[in-house]
Amino acid sequence: MYIVLEGIDGAGKSTQIELLKEWLIANGLDVETVVEPTDGDVGKLIRKILTYPNATDDNIQKTLGLLFAADRLVLMDKLEKLESENKVIISDRSFYSSLVYQKPQEWIYEINKYAKIPDLVLLMDLDVATSVSRCGKEDTFENEEFLTVVKDAYQELAESNDNFKVINANNGVNKVSSDIKKAVAPLFDICADCIQ
Ligand code: TYD
Repeated sequence: MYIVLEGIDGAGKSTQIELLKEWLIANGLDVETVVEPTDGDVGKLIRKILTYPNATDDNIQKTLGLLFAADRLVLMDKLEKLESENKVIISDRSFYSSLVYQKPQEWIYEINKYAKIPDLVLLMDLDVATSVSRCGKEDTFENEEFLTVVKDAYQELAESNDNFKVINANNGVNKVSSDIKKAVAPLFDICADCIQ
């Protein structure tokens, strides 16, 4: 099972991934977490480029699109191994991030055609103003104008893909966590009504 958390920067994905992981383990499941961009060689190069002042320029964005796709391909062997071991994979981001952060979309689909399709995408929906106020502004993407376009693109994906569930990430940590558990519970036949 491959579960992905998506959302604009500062939506609280890493906190929620840890809470979800603990809860699934308490329910007897074997869980592994992964992160995109990875901490491998390609991922490190990506993180460096994300701090460039011109990171939103067209050709740098295309370069990032290729690098994110390559970073994802390197991760693929690990995902396939974890799946073969019946592990539940929780991932911080996936190829859907490339579809909303990079462009053009048809080309991003093409260069990600070998990417794994998540069983469930939890879209952490956060107000852009809150996102920007939470971000350290280390990356060039962390500005209101850019993230507004990204948020709208996520909304479109959520409307056209059945594997998406939208989670209101403006709520407090506990409420967001229980909403996530309720969305995940049916995948494992866990009683969703029993979640507080
Ligand atoms: P991340 O470390 O998840 O940032 P945050 O914790 O603030 O959400 O991701 C780094 C940045 O990389 C983030 O701005 C989103 C961006 N990104 C893309 O532009 N395309 C991609 O394919 C991925 C995976 C991430």
